[in-house]
Amino acid sequence: MDEQAMRRCIERKRDGATLSAQEWDDIISAFMDDDVSEAQMAALCMACVWRGMSFDEAYALTRAMVESGQTIAFDVEHGIVVDKHSSGGVSDIVSLVAVPLAAACGARVAKLSGRALGHTGGTIDKLETIPGFNVALPIESFVKQVQQIGCAIAAQTQALVPADKRIYHLRDRTATVPSMGLIAASIVSKKIAGGAHAFVFDVKTGPGAMMQQPPQARELAQWLVEIAARFERRATAFVTDMSQPLGRCVGTGIEVVEAREFLRGNGDARAEELVLSIAGALVGEGGFDEPDALVREALSSGRAYEKFCEMIAAQGGDVAALEKMQPGAPLEVCAPQSGYLTAMDVVRLGNAGRALSAEDSLGGIEVAVRIGDYVEAGAPLVRAFGRDAHAAQPLAHAFTLSQAPVQAPPLLYDALCNAVVVKSRLAHADPAL
Ligand code: URA
Repeated sequence: MDEQAMRRCIERKRDGATLSAQEWDDIISAFMDDDVSEAQMAALCMACVWRGMSFDEAYALTRAMVESGQTIAFDVEHGIVVDKHSSGGVSDIVSLVAVPLAAACGARVAKLSGRALGHTGGTIDKLETIPGFNVALPIESFVKQVQQIGCAIAAQTQALVPADKRIYHLRDRTATVPSMGLIAASIVSKKIAGGAHAFVFDVKTGPGAMMQQPPQARELAQWLVEIAARFERRATAFVTDMSQPLGRCVGTGIEVVEAREFLRGNGDARAEELVLSIAGALVGEGGFDEPDALVREALSSGRAYEKFCEMIAAQGGDVAALEKMQPGAPLEVCAPQSGYLTAMDVVRLGNAGRALSAEDSLGGIEVAVRIGDYVEAGAPLVRAFGRDAHAAQPLAHAFTLSQAPVQAPPLLYDALCNAVVVKSRLAHADPAL
């Protein structure tokens, strides 16, 4: 595709037409060969944001992006491999905890993760705070580790879906992120290239999420499971709340400490509800019966914590150092008045955690309250850790207190899945498949 042909595609998209699968293939190939400029690609993305994309277009774009780089292959004959993805949250410790938890139940979890984006945290940045931990696993080591110990968490390599890397960066700079089709293609292409046979998606909704309204988040969840189905990958998608941080801690190393304590049986109840649901879905998608019971047993027996330590050690992490990780003395940010907590500025809390952890790997904040709580004047709202903890003092304004009681928002809004059946000859799988 040359500049003139691309110009015609932009015009047609601008005027509401649907581009063909061949055109999406040609656009991505030409962009990767530098025959299409960033200016033209940005204009096309803006037309997609403005006019929308059909489901067929999103699928075609996903496929074209997958084909822009290498793909990982796991042999299904050795068992179903599962992966999870979150659309981005604050204090989202689910991957750190659910991956080893599902692996401790026998599932094989190959998790490719990203870095922090905007106010939301990144699993890779968190894991890097463990001394020695290697996030940059070569593909062969990633595959081998999943086969040998049942799980690995690695950074998305440059070799997988390079088109998404370039286009996402461009969308970020040109305010063209919010398009259902572009978002779904970006997310699913990375999962397909990662090689798993089944996926669990966690689509966040609320003021701290990309999809602020539950119906929007549900629509994205639907697109994700349906695009995955076109690739014959089974998928479950949860729609979950992000009107307050999921766990208690916001930062990098401080979230690793929270995950460690969770796996030792000291988890926050709200985070636990989601972790158990997602780990259960990973185990179920992995072909195991009674996943919820398996997950509860793996957590309470300590096997999930052992698997976490095994994964850390397999990736070069210093488990003794992990066990000693502890933030210093906190500085408390207290409520200026009494009242019911009606809302939190999750974006502000996320940004504060990121800023404090940028200066000190065990810096960050711990949120002491939940929406719906009655808070006494002078009671702590936030405990801030790190060299610049005093900078957290204005966070008192991130909390809205009122005199009328409010109900806590639900955590789980919805769960949907597609009907793909992943065939495996493993003993635990249904022999009739
Ligand atoms: N996360 C992604 O990976 N891609 C998007 O487009 C948006 C969020």
